[in-house]
Amino acid sequence: MKLSSLSIAGAWLCLAFNHALAAESHSALHHAPAPDTRSVLALEPDERAMILEEMRMFLDGVHKMTGALAKPDMAAVAEIARGMGQKMVHEVPPALRAKLPQAFRQLGFSVHREFDQIALDAGSLQNVSHSLNQLSATLQKCVSCHASYQIQAPIHADSH
Ligand code: HEC
Repeated sequence: MKLSSLSIAGAWLCLAFNHALAAESHSALHHAPAPDTRSVLALEPDERAMILEEMRMFLDGVHKMTGALAKPDMAAVAEIARGMGQKMVHEVPPALRAKLPQAFRQLGFSVHREFDQIALDAGSLQNVSHSLNQLSATLQKCVSCHASYQIQAPIHADSH
């Protein structure tokens, strides 16, 4: 009697272990490279380079802004945020702008607008927590655009 209940317990343990293994391989599957299903923006290599350059300026600005917020140096926060505001938009050539879907452009515009607002508030309110909240909300837009779009440029145009 004792022996059989022991073997039942053993069998149960075995089952539980198998379950754990199955769960692990299941989660490993989830981490396997998945096809990129984001919408494609088909651009020329120089257009792609221009957008990516703007993106790196965003990242650079966000980096500098967090440093200024940590000090805190609100005048610097305002200046850095203004640099990422609407004045950046005019640098996009009309031909490129015309190729971008409206939803993409609107998201981009709203990010620039929000940086202008962050600049205004950093100057007038001088409140680190308020600015960080605004920055966090804006970064959410970076995240959602990146989740939706990718850029593809024809390979033949690569000059080597
Ligand atoms: C309207 C859409 C949009 C918004 C908003 C946006 N990005 Fe991007 N970003 C893109 C796309 C599209 C790419 C290219 C992704 C790809 O092809 O895989 C990109 C690429 C990048 C890259 C890579 C640059 C490189 O040289 O490869 C960085 C860094 C980046 N974004 C930072 C940011 C930051 C920071 C923000 C917010 C402040 C932001 N982006 C907001 C669309 C956006």
